Amino acid sequence: MIIIKNNIAIDKMRHAGHILVTILEDMRQYVVVGVSTFDLDAMIEARMTAQGLQAPCKGYGTYKFATCISLNDGIVHGVPSKEIILKSGDFVKIDVVGAYKSYCADLTRYYFVGEVSATVRRIAEVAQIALDSAIAVIKPGIKLSDISSLVQNIVEKEGFGVVRDFAGHGIGQHFHEEPSIPNYGKPGKGPVVREGMAFAIEPMITEKSFEVRILPDGWTAKTIDGGLAAHVEDTVVVTKTGVEVLTRLV
Ligand code: MF3
Ligand code: CO
Repeated sequence: MIIIKNNIAIDKMRHAGHILVTILEDMRQYVVVGVSTFDLDAMIEARMTAQGLQAPCKGYGTYKFATCISLNDGIVHGVPSKEIILKSGDFVKIDVVGAYKSYCADLTRYYFVGEVSATVRRIAEVAQIALDSAIAVIKPGIKLSDISSLVQNIVEKEGFGVVRDFAGHGIGQHFHEEPSIPNYGKPGKGPVVREGMAFAIEPMITEKSFEVRILPDGWTAKTIDGGLAAHVEDTVVVTKTGVEVLTRLV
């Protein structure tokens, strides 16, 4: 069942989203050579707590951190570590869920450490274009898979792959709610999008193979062939005419 959010719920999600995006944008000054992903996670968690946000990823199954931080060929669910120290050229993706009075927002931002390759810039740009294009088509009356097929078409036209093993999702009092929103598929299928639905839209794209391998930590997902991966994500709520993006600064 896809839960329709009322204005009280949306207000809480909006508050969570605004705080989270402010934190992730402010982190740009700290995502630099020499810092560990463990320290970045701790800084983000401290800022969330100080501003009244819960971190539902922490304690989700065996997961122990507020954020997921994925580098280079890391797609999603990178486990923060004192051993992972940023170096010039790294392509960093920070994914975080924050909850205000138990209502969640979920977003991912990317960061370039020092000088990155042209391929890093291009894959990041294509992921961002795919997300922006998806956000632009969501409105009441479309079918859910219209989003999926749009993302796949944009990404594959640029010669990149879309990951099959993970998907976007509905979001609310739980950070994973129905429906699942894959980044591939044929248009015109699945449930009809309606006002008050809230979605985390998250293209995950790869330079080469879209196949995934999971590290022995049980979480960190990387490309099977070591090719680069990009991931971007925003939380949106469907309005009468389109969407409101809850995880961007206007
Ligand atoms: N933020 C992720 C998502 O976009 C979920 C994090 S998994 C967890 O769906 F283990 F960190 F909780
Ligand atoms: Co998500």
